[in-house]
Amino acid sequence: MDRLVIQGGHPLRGRIRVSGAKNAALPCLAAALLTADPVVLSNLPAVADIRTMVKVLQSLGTEASLEAHPDGFELTARLACAGSEDPKAPYDLVKTMRASILVLGPLLARFGKATVSLPGGCAIGARPVNLHLEALERMGARIEISHGYIHASVKGRLKAIDHTFEKVSVGATENILTAATLAEGTTILRNAALEPEIGDLAQLLVEMGAQIEGIGTGTLTITGVQRLHGCEHAVIADRIEAGTYLCAVAAACGDVVLDRCEPEHLRSLLDLLERSGCVITEREGQEGRQLRIQREPGQKLRSKDVTTLPFPGFPTDLQAQVMAVMTQACGISVINEGIFENRFQHAMELERLGANLRTDGHTAIVAGPADLTGCTVMATDLRASAALVIAGLVAAGETIVDRIYHLDRGYSGLEKKLQGVGARIERVGGGKV
Ligand code: UD1
Repeated sequence: MDRLVIQGGHPLRGRIRVSGAKNAALPCLAAALLTADPVVLSNLPAVADIRTMVKVLQSLGTEASLEAHPDGFELTARLACAGSEDPKAPYDLVKTMRASILVLGPLLARFGKATVSLPGGCAIGARPVNLHLEALERMGARIEISHGYIHASVKGRLKAIDHTFEKVSVGATENILTAATLAEGTTILRNAALEPEIGDLAQLLVEMGAQIEGIGTGTLTITGVQRLHGCEHAVIADRIEAGTYLCAVAAACGDVVLDRCEPEHLRSLLDLLERSGCVITEREGQEGRQLRIQREPGQKLRSKDVTTLPFPGFPTDLQAQVMAVMTQACGISVINEGIFENRFQHAMELERLGANLRTDGHTAIVAGPADLTGCTVMATDLRASAALVIAGLVAAGETIVDRIYHLDRGYSGLEKKLQGVGARIERVGGGKV
């Protein structure tokens, strides 16, 4: 098993090119199931989750190829889904990536049936799929759960609904939005999630011929069509990857320009880092917007409180990284996790590195600044791993981050991108450390 070995205490200076958004790419890949025509998706990050989703699509009768770009950080997928007699997303794939549930809506809408493994719990909380299933049942699907699988079918086409999600859910919004594109009639989805990745998915669906109004708002109106066609689409930049590098500079100091990002997708983090004392500049670059972050060594950070909420609130996917930042800020920071019930597993590992913090239920209290010192820490989930890398960049001496297969699920070339801005970080095979 690979590990990352980090020599901390070196400021980061230079440029990082932000990859495409994993969480936009996954629903876009699933949406390719809606048509037999070729769909070409570019700017996909070269991460394990993308390869897993492509395997899921292949198991569902899709011809798929993934082409890596010369920099190794980016992939283009060419997909054509003829379909299969009995579309089934197996447990072996779904258990490694919960987002596999996103194939349920497209499969039901196009083929009238689907079998998808129940994803089960995960390290950060229960993560049920009731909101997905309730809406599909209201659209006329018959849903049965047996032997760990969701068996769904519908006679004829799915029917349009006027539906208010009881809770804001990114995945449920995506699943029902895609399903509704081929349903009979006009579906209205209220209390839909506002995450930018949903806007990107909706944009792809429109390019495929879907009729969607209200993109970017909490009410999506989708008029179902008989069929969708192929298209070429480039996914948006990864706001969480960009946010992770911003947190790395805020914590470890330096001066870094992020190429190709969308500041509007990161407003809550940018506000927080600016209020904490970092200097942030936005400008137009050759390949889209750029963000520059500066915090010189010796420049103090101020602690700030954070509550994670659905977009445009502070993203739960940046909570762990910002906790690593707050270990370096002067004063007390109260961090409330408002989305998932068990998302503080990085806290104990940060403590092992010398952070001064306490957790109680959904709240973590961080007192800073703490002198972090390197040791071996264990990654527990994707974003927790990123927080440990950030802390390792700060800590004196050597930090070893173990179990980085979590990190490889969602960060394209993390150690190479960090090396490019002067970090002393190396990937080492499990047997060699
Ligand atoms: C997506 C993101 C994930 C991010 C999360 C919240 C992808 C692939 N993953 O996950 O990185 O952390 O949004 O921004 O895009 N819930 C229910 N019933 C359901 C569905 C969700 O109770 O049927 C709850 C969840 O347990 C959670 C909350 O709703 O407490 C939000 O979850 P949701 O937005 O659905 O997250 P995901 O789509 O799984």
